[in-house]
Amino acid sequence: MEVSNEVNEQKKYIKKVKEINTNKSPKYNILTMGCQLNENDSEKLCGMIEEMGYVKTDKMDEVDLAVINTCCVRENAEDRLFGKLGDLKKAKQTRGTIIAIGGCMMQEEHITKKIKQSYPYVDLIFGTHTLHKFPEDLSKVLEEKNKLIDILDIDGKVYEGLPIKRDSSVKASVTIMNGCNNFCSYCIVPYVRGRERSRSPKDIIQEVKEIAKQGYKEVTLLGQNVNSYLRVEREKNIPFEEYEGINSFATLLKAINKIDGIERIRFVSPHPKDFTDDVIEAIAECDKVCKLVHLPLQSGSTNVLEAMNRKYTKEQYLNLVEKMKAKIPNLTLSTDIIVGFPGETEEDFEDTLDVVRKVNFEQVYMFIYSRRVGTPGDKMENQIPEEIKHKRFDRLKALFEEQTKKNNQKYVGTTQKVLVEGKSKNNGDMLTGRTDSNKVVVFEGPEELINKVVDLDIISEHMWYLKGQFERKG
Ligand code: 5AD
Ligand code: SF4
Repeated sequence: MEVSNEVNEQKKYIKKVKEINTNKSPKYNILTMGCQLNENDSEKLCGMIEEMGYVKTDKMDEVDLAVINTCCVRENAEDRLFGKLGDLKKAKQTRGTIIAIGGCMMQEEHITKKIKQSYPYVDLIFGTHTLHKFPEDLSKVLEEKNKLIDILDIDGKVYEGLPIKRDSSVKASVTIMNGCNNFCSYCIVPYVRGRERSRSPKDIIQEVKEIAKQGYKEVTLLGQNVNSYLRVEREKNIPFEEYEGINSFATLLKAINKIDGIERIRFVSPHPKDFTDDVIEAIAECDKVCKLVHLPLQSGSTNVLEAMNRKYTKEQYLNLVEKMKAKIPNLTLSTDIIVGFPGETEEDFEDTLDVVRKVNFEQVYMFIYSRRVGTPGDKMENQIPEEIKHKRFDRLKALFEEQTKKNNQKYVGTTQKVLVEGKSKNNGDMLTGRTDSNKVVVFEGPEELINKVVDLDIISEHMWYLKGQFERKG
């Protein structure tokens, strides 16, 4: 992978901070909110921080550097941030802890203003486009003992070669594109993550090969709109270097499918409007691509979908699902749904329930609509009262749980291929892993099975996990 000049420049600052930290082995803690993209950004932050000599800790009374990587998709993240900042005040007073906040929420002016006014003890604020400069910013804070705000409004470039400290040793995430051009009317992401930019095919392939070499078995390709990978470049004739025949999301899947060592490929999130036939064919054809596809619905009502600027109707979504089910054997689907978008009537909500019944999703991530400053949805007059939003949410949840129970029963008595991830958090004597359809399976077995794909007989279902049995062969 070619290291960006900007990243090389940061290596100097990494060295500088490391020198400041010599013989101290200071401690750091990171809190990550939001989606897998943010988690991947945090892995890069941890990579840089650990190279600077910090050691991770969960004990808040010994933290020298506290980092919060924020999300702003829904309001509850704001409450969480301000609560956490309140807790950190004591650490600042007693220990002089350096407090750094970054990520999506920091791209919102009203938030940074509030932090400056109400939480003046925060040392460093950085945004989504300046994450790679963390070593430089931190070194300035340490040396000059000053507060620093480093936010860029323009779209950041894609930076290659940042150190990375991955959370898992079985599954790795690889960001393939940044930003979003869709402007769904509820969503803040295009305002805080900027326009779509794809990473070069060569850099992605080299990263996946590296991951495979390190022994990872599963890779998740990340982006706000993965199936429009390289689309802007193609449409606007922006030159990019083709590599191993990759010029689209479908060709990227096919190329990654050929990489030895990788056994499973997942991706989040695609947009239904960009789900072209070549992508469907690639999923069907590539044996390593998991047959669980995340297909965000958001609403089942054509009226609401139009108000959301989603660019598909209820029927188009259902037709797409039918087409995918016909072409991809053993397909399962997961989705995101927002309840209580402005103007959503009882009839509109019934349409959402109808789609949920018809598609029979394996997993539904449900959200109550949250007004986001600066988005068109926030300016709409027909906002739904909180009480109605909550009632609808509960009804959707009840339907989904009823379907989950039925779906789970279908697993009992089958044999599933499970990628074993490690010891179960709730019971150290058990191992835990996931099926192709991303269901958690807990079972008893020897530790040597960790990081292997094994056949498990499913013996019972327990709503949010399945119980499996491992039979030693031979
Ligand atoms: N309110 C509620 N949910 C939202 N999402 C995005 N914006 C909002 C909002 N303003 C949900 C969408 C998206 C997921 C990541 O978060 O369902 O797919
Ligand atoms: Fe949160 Fe969206 Fe940013 Fe992810 S991209 S961290 S969900 S605001």
